[in-house]
Amino acid sequence: MNDSPRSTARSRPWSLLGLIASALVIAFLAACNLTYDSYFSPPQIPGATFTGVKSCEECHEEIVEEFEGATHAKLLNESHHAINLGCEACHGPASTHNESGGEVGTIHNPKSDPDTCYQCHLDVKGSFNLAHAHPIGDKVSCNDCHDPHSGAAIKGGGVAAMKEAETCIQCHQAQSGPYVFEHEATRDGCTVCHSPHGSPSDKLLKTSNQMLCLQCHFQQQTAPDVILIGGRNHASWVSRGTCWTAGCHESVHGSHVNSSLRY
Ligand code: HEC
Ligand code: HEC
Ligand code: HEC
Ligand code: HEC
Ligand code: HEC
Ligand code: HEC
Ligand code: HEC
Repeated sequence: MNDSPRSTARSRPWSLLGLIASALVIAFLAACNLTYDSYFSPPQIPGATFTGVKSCEECHEEIVEEFEGATHAKLLNESHHAINLGCEACHGPASTHNESGGEVGTIHNPKSDPDTCYQCHLDVKGSFNLAHAHPIGDKVSCNDCHDPHSGAAIKGGGVAAMKEAETCIQCHQAQSGPYVFEHEATRDGCTVCHSPHGSPSDKLLKTSNQMLCLQCHFQQQTAPDVILIGGRNHASWVSRGTCWTAGCHESVHGSHVNSSLRY
């Protein structure tokens, strides 16, 4: 915490207000701290207790083995408080499941239930509540794009941009081409232009104006009143709308007829 605002407040006539405000802030932070302790609660299963990741091995050997290299293996904390983490952080306590030999309905499957994930990724819930977002539920689930059990949780994550695009193309074949005139931007994956969860902008775009395109097509300007993009003066065009709605580059993913991605 930076305490300079507080000392400024004290030296002014409204210092009492300042003090009350700080007290409220401190009370609020304390409350946050309290809720933080009880912040994460794994899925509930009546009567069941936590058994730890080792207990799954016998029947789900492959998943347990792969899990070692998964992003969420970070949940496998060694501390004695942490037996309820690992697999059961998402699946709930498994004793009933294990004892019944895996009977249906004895364990939580977070398949299309994002609330399991929001327990720890609350900020992500916010992005799905934005004006334009993927419809999480039956049609799209977190695991369409994320892998809870093996490798990077972000499918095709890291440097493998093309693999990330493959995730999107499962459902959006139209944007994948092949095109006669490909837009090389899509080689860097879809998320250079789209926010994968949600966005305030239409079509899940990262920005709704020409900045979306200028992140790669910015060009050193040589004269006032001249806006060079792709080597051509765009000064009279940029006022007509965005690069993709002004009638100029409508086929932003690629085109079959026009190298300027016009149609
Ligand atoms: C004694 C064997 C056994 C043990 C131990 C066991 N399971 Fe299972 N589990 C099964 C069987 C059998 C099924 C149902 C068939 C299948 O989907 O493979 C199952 C299914 C599941 C499912 C899918 C349930 C559904 O409704 O879709 C999950 C999730 C699961 N197990 C998690 C776990 C976890 C986590 C552990 C360890 C904490 C564990 N299991 C331990 C036998 C077991
Ligand atoms: C980050 C949350 C998370 C963790 C941690 C997790 N799982 Fe899962 N698990 C899921 C989700 C989500 C699904 C549904 C996947 C789907 O249907 O595509 C699932 C499905 C399953 C299934 C049934 C479907 C299948 O793939 O056979 C089993 C069994 C299972 N998990 C076992 C485990 C075991 C064992 C561990 C620990 C080694 C574990 N899970 C850790 C989220 C998790
Ligand atoms: C018990 C808490 C917990 C739950 C429940 C949980 N996660 Fe995570 N998740 C984590 C932790 C811890 C990390 C690792 C964060 C890091 O490395 O900075 C992580 C990482 C991730 C990442 C990768 C983030 C990155 O920047 O690489 C994704 C994607 C993700 N989780 C998705 C999910 C999904 C989908 C679910 C539900 C099926 C889920 N998580 C459930 C705790 C959780
Ligand atoms: C349409 C695909 C898609 C779906 C559906 C999706 N994600 Fe993601 N998610 C991504 C991609 C791609 C990234 C990598 C970040 C980026 O490129 O902006 C990501 C990043 C993340 C991250 C790490 C960065 C961050 O924003 O915190 C978490 C955590 C995460 N997702 C959780 C979830 C959860 C939880 C769900 C379900 C409620 C979900 N995601 C559904 C594609 C998806
Ligand atoms: C499991 C299927 C699935 C996956 C995977 C998927 N999407 Fe979607 N996407 C949808 C659905 C369903 C909609 C909503 C369609 C609608 O409202 O017409 C949608 C909507 C969109 C939209 C807005 C379309 C519009 O007309 O407003 C964009 C942009 C988009 N997705 C991009 C992506 C990107 C980028 C990825 C990869 C990170 C991705 N999608 C992965 C199913 C998926
Ligand atoms: C160079 C930026 C850029 C890249 C890269 C990009 N998109 Fe788009 N995408 C856009 C723009 C701009 C629109 C809005 C077009 C419009 O409104 O006419 C859009 C629209 C969409 C739509 C809505 C349907 C439509 O055509 O209006 C979907 C779905 C979509 N994109 C999916 C993807 C997928 C999947 C990828 C990766 C293969 C991808 N996009 C890569 C810029 C991009
Ligand atoms: C991730 C970087 C990137 C982004 C973002 C991007 N582009 Fe591109 N674009 C390229 C690359 C690389 C080429 C091919 C090399 C070149 O012509 O500069 C290209 C080529 C083009 C061309 C063809 C130029 C020609 O005549 O051959 C047009 C038109 C174009 N982009 C328009 C757009 C529009 C419109 C947007 C915004 C919706 C956009 N680009 C966003 C990277 C990008």
